[in-house]
Amino acid sequence: MRIGILGTGTLAEALGTGWVRAGHEVVVGGRSPGKAQALADRLGGATRALPPQEIAHGRDAVLLAVAWAGVEDTLRSAGAPDGTLDGTPLIDPTNAVEHGVGVLLTEPHGSAAQRVAALAPGAHVVKAFHLFPAQRWTQPREAGDTPVTVAVCGDDADALRVTGRLVRDVGGVPAVLGPLGRARQLEEAAGFVIGLAFAGFDPVSAVPSG
Ligand SMILES: NC(=O)c1ccc[n+]([C@@H]2O[C@H](COP(=O)([O-])OP(=O)(O)OC[C@H]3O[C@@H](n4cnc5c(N)ncnc54)[C@H](OP(=O)(O)O)[C@@H]3O)[C@@H](O)[C@H]2O)c1
Repeated sequence: MRIGILGTGTLAEALGTGWVRAGHEVVVGGRSPGKAQALADRLGGATRALPPQEIAHGRDAVLLAVAWAGVEDTLRSAGAPDGTLDGTPLIDPTNAVEHGVGVLLTEPHGSAAQRVAALAPGAHVVKAFHLFPAQRWTQPREAGDTPVTVAVCGDDADALRVTGRLVRDVGGVPAVLGPLGRARQLEEAAGFVIGLAFAGFDPVSAVPSG
């Protein structure tokens, strides 16, 4: 697949690494051309750095791997409000949470993913990859390891299928929980996990295992 990544930080690198390994063609772009070029060099293969406005065109999927504070500016610099992502699966892994606390920063009845959808008319937004630390996608897996379940939601069946393939390509199993209207719940789940971790508890110990 031809994948665009907006953002040049930790998650962009982790998922980009996995997708390049899986044989996909990746392009990366962010507000810093230097960081984008450095990331493209680290990802290797045929990976290229492009300006954000060129990331959207002709991609089978685009990952929005930026800090919540930068989501609006990034989508604007990619031309999303003008429809450059129309018809493109747009994967939203963002966590709009208060750092160290886990409380969501979005309006009580909205979600980050729905805000992303509003900023990118026509894009097929899928919430995914927001719950696990980035390192999960690059750490070596042993035979017999249980794959992690990646909860996803979205409104477009084809975008969910594309995202599901990209989840499998980094060793996860996609679990489609419903339409994008479920995103608030998925985002609250991440806030819950982040809150427990910062309070010194293992989030895994806080949910029933059987
Ligand atoms: N890292 C994880 O384990 C993880 C896991 C799940 C979900 N996420 C989510 O994934 C997203 C990216 O996380 P990350 O860990 O990759 O963060 P990161 O390493 O800090 O990278 C953040 C990226 O966002 C850009 N950015 C920050 N503020 C911006 C602004 N105001 N305008 C434009 N761009 C801006 C940064 O650009 P500069 O480098 O130029 O500042 C960088 O490209 C976040 O929403 C995070 O909640 C992260």
